[in-house]
Formats: sequence, C-alpha cells, structure tokens
Amino acid sequence: MRRAARFVLVLLAVLALVTVAAWWVLARTTKAWWESDLAMRSKLAVNSARVGLTRGWPDDRATVGRALEDITRDSRILGAAACLPDGELLAATSDYPLGFTCALVAEHAGRAGGRGFTMAPEDSLHLTATPLEGEGGVLGTVVLVHDLGYVDQRDAATRQVLFGGFFVLALAAAVATLLAARFAWKGWTLELQRALLGEASTEFQPMVRDVRALVDRLVNEREGEARGGPWDPARLKATLTRHLQGERVVVLANREPYIHERGEGGVKVVHPASGLVTALEPVMRACSGTWVAHGSGSADRDTVDAKDRVRVPPGEESYLLRRVWLTEEEEAGYYYGFSNEGLWPLCHVAHARPVFRSSDWETYVAVNRRFAGAVCEEVDSDEPIVLVQDYHFALAPRMIRERLPRATILTFWHIPWPNAERFGICPWRDELLSGLLGSSIIGFHTQQHCNNFIDAVDAFMESRIDREARAVVQQGRKTLVRPYPISIEWPVRWLHDVPGVAECRKAIRGELGLGADALLGVGIDRLDYTKGVEERLAAVDELLARFPEFRGRFTFIQLAAPSRMKITRYRELNERVEQLAAEINARWGTPGWRPVVLLRDHHEPQTVFRYYRAADLCYVSSLHDGMNLVAKEFVAARDDEQGVLLLSQFTGAARDLTEALVVNPYDLRQASDALAAALRMSPEEQRERMRAMRRLVSEFNVYRWAGRMLVDAAELRRRERLTGRLTPLSPLTGVS
Ligand code: F6P
Repeated sequence: MRRAARFVLVLLAVLALVTVAAWWVLARTTKAWWESDLAMRSKLAVNSARVGLTRGWPDDRATVGRALEDITRDSRILGAAACLPDGELLAATSDYPLGFTCALVAEHAGRAGGRGFTMAPEDSLHLTATPLEGEGGVLGTVVLVHDLGYVDQRDAATRQVLFGGFFVLALAAAVATLLAARFAWKGWTLELQRALLGEASTEFQPMVRDVRALVDRLVNEREGEARGGPWDPARLKATLTRHLQGERVVVLANREPYIHERGEGGVKVVHPASGLVTALEPVMRACSGTWVAHGSGSADRDTVDAKDRVRVPPGEESYLLRRVWLTEEEEAGYYYGFSNEGLWPLCHVAHARPVFRSSDWETYVAVNRRFAGAVCEEVDSDEPIVLVQDYHFALAPRMIRERLPRATILTFWHIPWPNAERFGICPWRDELLSGLLGSSIIGFHTQQHCNNFIDAVDAFMESRIDREARAVVQQGRKTLVRPYPISIEWPVRWLHDVPGVAECRKAIRGELGLGADALLGVGIDRLDYTKGVEERLAAVDELLARFPEFRGRFTFIQLAAPSRMKITRYRELNERVEQLAAEINARWGTPGWRPVVLLRDHHEPQTVFRYYRAADLCYVSSLHDGMNLVAKEFVAARDDEQGVLLLSQFTGAARDLTEALVVNPYDLRQASDALAAALRMSPEEQRERMRAMRRLVSEFNVYRWAGRMLVDAAELRRRERLTGRLTPLSPLTGVS
C-alpha cells in the first residue's frame, strides 16, 4: 500500500506538470489569437468609418472627430484618435488617453509589426494603429484603444476549467490506484495463503518453501527459548558445556574490567566507564576463563603474578585477568593514535576527521601481534574459543588463526561500521578487512552495520559473499556476519548495594540542595564527542527558554567521566562542555538554583545507579552509537517502573527501546519538546512505557547475547568439522 501511495504521489506530480504546461500553451495561443483578431476588427471598424474620416481629412477636425466617435460606439472600443503622418494629433474622442501621443503610438506600432500591442498592461488597455488609405496613398493612422477586460475574464475561466479538471482527474486517479492496489494486495495474500495451505499451485510456489522454513525456524527458536527458561549465568554456562564441551573462553579486549590504582589510602580497584566492560564482565563471571587486556592502572604491575595474571573479581575470584604491558609510545600509536584518532572517527558519523599516521598503523600492527601472542599463551587446547572485542583488535583474529587454525574466533565490533565509501578512505582498509575475516563470526549491533561490512568486503576484497548464509567465504573458509544486539546483565548486580528509588530520590536531592519535589534529569557518559553532550545541554537551555514553567524547578545533572584526554579533540570538548554549562547557569540560574550540574569525574557504578534511580528522566543524546548501554542501565535501575528515557535515534538501542521518547539530538526544538513531555508525563504512561522496556531488556540480556553467539559458533564448528573445512589460512597481506 505504501508503494501505491508513492505511485499516487508521482502520478499527481505528473498531472500537475501536464496541467501547468497545458495552461501555458493555451495562454500563449490565446494571446496570439486575440492580437490578430483585434488587428482585423480594427481594420473593419476603420473601413466602415472611412467615408467620414476621409471627408474631413486633414482640415475638418470636427468631421474626423465625429467619425471617430462613431467608431467608439462599439462598447469594447474605449477611445480613438487620428494621427497625421508627421505624428501630429488630428482629432481624438473625449475618452482617448492623451498620454498615448501619436509619436509614442507610432513607436510601439512599429515594434508590433501590424499586430495589436499593449501600452498600459495594468489597465488591460490594448491599442491598434490602422493606416487610413486615401486616393493618393496613406493619409495617416487611426489609433483605437480596446478594453481587454473580457480577455482576462476568458483567461481566468480557462484557468478555472483546467485546474478544476486537474483536481477531478487527480482525485479519480488516486482513488483508482489505491483501490487497484488494495484489490491486488488482497488477491496476492489470498493466493499466497492458498499456496501455503497446499490448496493450489500458484506462481508463489517458489516462495512457499522459504516461508515455511522461516516459520519453522521461528517456531523452533521460540519453543527452544521457552524450554530453556530465561537467560542467566547458569543457562549460559550450560550452553557452553552442551555446545562447546565446556571450553574455557579467552576474551581479548583493550580495556580491563578491574584497574588497580595507587591512591592516598593505598591500592584501590576502579571499574572503568566502558560499555564493553559492562557487557562482557558478567559473561566472564558465568563462563570463567581468561580476559586478556592492557594493564593500564598505576598499581596493576603490583597485583599480578609472575605470568602477569591476577584472579578477579576481587573477593569473588572466578576468572583470570592477564595483563599486557604497553610502553608510552605503544599506547600513543596503537590506542590514542590509530584506534582513537583513526578508527573511532572513521566509524562514527560525528563530524570528526580521522587522522591516519603510518607510524600509528605500524604500532597498531605490532601491538595487535603482541596481544594475539598473549591470547595464544592463554589457551589450553588447539580448538579454543576466543572472543575478540572491538576496533582495537581488527588484525588479531587473523593473527590468532595463523597460530591456531582450529580456533573458534568470535569478533564483536562494539561501535558502528560505516558504509563502504566512508570505510574506503582508510589507507589500510584491505588489511583491516583481511584481519577481521580471520574470525569465525563477526558480530555487530545492527543488521545495518552487518550490511555495511559486507558491502566493504564486496568492494575491496577478493571473496565470495554468501548472502543466504549471511557469510563471507575466502579460500573455502566461511566467516559469518551477524547482528547480535548487546545488552546488560539482568538483574544488575550493582543494584544489590544501591538503596531503593524513594531513598535515592531523597538523598540525591538533599546532596544537590534541591527541594523534595524538584524535577531531575540525568545524563551519564564518558566525555566523548560522539555522545552529544553539548547538544544535550543545549536542549536543556532550549527547554528553559521555551517552557518557563520549568525554570527554578528542573535541574539536569551530567555525570561525565573524562576520557582519552591525551587527544586534543577530547580536551577541547571538556572545556566546551564546562563553558556551556556555565553559560546556561548564568543565563537562567538564580541564587538558590543551578539548572545544570556538571560532575566531571569518574563515578563508580553504585553512584551511577543512585542517580538513575533518583532521576525523573534520563537523556541519551549520542550523535552516533553502536548500542549505548546507559539507556538499558537506566531501564534496569527503575524497578519502580517510573522515569522517562529520552533516546537518540542514532543509537542501536533506539531499535530495541521503542517505548523511549526517541529524538534527533540535533533538533533542539524536538528535543526540548520531548524533555517537556517527559517532565509532564503521567505516572500511568511512565509505567506502561517502562514496563515494556524492562520486559525487553530482562529477556534480551547479555547472557542471551553471548549465548546466541556461542551457539552459532558451535553450529559453525560442527559443520566445519563435518565438511573437513578447518583449513589453515594464508598469511595476512601487508602486515608483517
Ligand atoms: O563501547 C565502545 C567503547 O569504545 C569500548 O570499546 C570501550 O571500552 C569504551 O567505549 C570506552 O572507551 P575506552 O576503552 O577508550 O575508555
């Protein structure tokens, strides 16, 4: 039906064009027609008065004048004048406009070449200059002034008929098309139904097999899900045992889940602000195994054993953290340089230009090789399961496969994957793709990112794209490309130590010096330019400008963890956000009220969850985000089923959390409207929306995310074993 509507629109546009063209042609033809018509009628009028005119010409002005008056008896001729060949006025009727002098008329008549001409278009006055023939030749010219009001009326009538016709035709065409589309759709559906029921063999027969297979798969999945119960650590562990013989899992991620920092009171454990850690850590608790990461804390070296390992989580040790040490130069080239000044802006549409330095790339290659080596040291079989995480390690999958050809390597790209054209600007695009294709499975948050990746492979690599299997095949090896929307643990363990909603509301308002009924909005981010923090604060500013009722009542609190501060762009962002908050506070604040509270610091998860619970709304305004787990954490925190989530349409989360108020963060009017709507939303509506989102996040939690990837990997492994396709790879091109 949508296609039919589009067709109707095109049809209407075509009809409108045809109508305008028809009107234009008609107007021109009519003009030419009445111009020659007037010339002819003028000639007739002058001829019929010829006797009177010639009798008095040129000495008896009164006789000529009477003859001219006779001519103007015709109601469409308003005035007449007789001009001598030398341009002198011989006689004129009383209504003749004397501004139209004989000389002026002669000039226009010359240009009109014997046709009628207009001298005062605004008055619809049209003139003709007809030569008066005598016995000895041309005696002079008779000028007639015609009233063309009737032509305008005729024109208007034609226009009305034409546009009326267009309207009727357009209506008829639209109705006919929509009816035809509806009948066709009905017929199509009936025929497909009959084909599916096996009642008839129709042209849809080839589709029937595919539809049945899809239905079977969905039913099986649903039944399987129902049988397995909700996804939790136990079910994930059982899945690992059943499908992958309980293999130990090795995770490779740049960021470590626990950072040991030396402080004034001794060594403390810091939990980094990272979506990746939020998602992966509960999975590792459930699966056990080893997490290989960069040891970035000031006390990290003091807490590892001789093999650079430490058992975590502190106090509940269930898996190993293997730390890899990087020099300052390595960190500058691999992490700050190629990963965060090159790949990060390349993959996010946030208007930051990527910087690609050869020296950064070389360090990136070397560091990937070192981490791949560390992974190979941590595995305990030649068929391990390795989970490679994110853009820091695009080359590691192939490097690992070179050493462990039978490994099951699941790579998850936590950030968006750009379209092929954009990705193509990277000088090392082929090497990156080749590195990633060492994986058994590559996962993205959304189908769109999968499509973009496949398009890039199609454009730049020698390979076969198996669209049906959603896979890339290179030298007989298959890499599945699948969407696995990441999520959070459910229930969130941090919430055990966080007071209930009522208590958090009271405590946070007290700490901020706000009244018990103050309205509170919250934003929680790493301070990154992709998160749209500036746009978010600007939306608060706009809210206060457009909705005075919230002045003095609404406070927006932004928790911003400084991040990647060695990169200029991030330092500048910190300054801009500080300044913007100060400007808004100066504009609207009063002695007892600051509209924006900016807490620029690292906050531990318990603190973050207190704010989620205390807030009336949470605004996630990313300009581009693979998923965004802050949105899901806010939902998880609200066991009171209250609070409103405002969510940028440019996050992966917006596809799942459709009950959020989804906004374009660049559109400040829309965002401020949404803020106002959130602050005015009834508790019933909040409950309805929050309940639906909580149902979704609890079901599609991170255990399910990991479980589905592992099940797909197991299936792939089984098939590869059966078909004997676990063949070694050729070495990585251009990466030595
Ligand atoms: O979720 C995206 C992500 O880049 C993760 O990959 C990363 O751990 C997180 O953001 C935080 O970034 P960083 O590790 O650079 O502090």
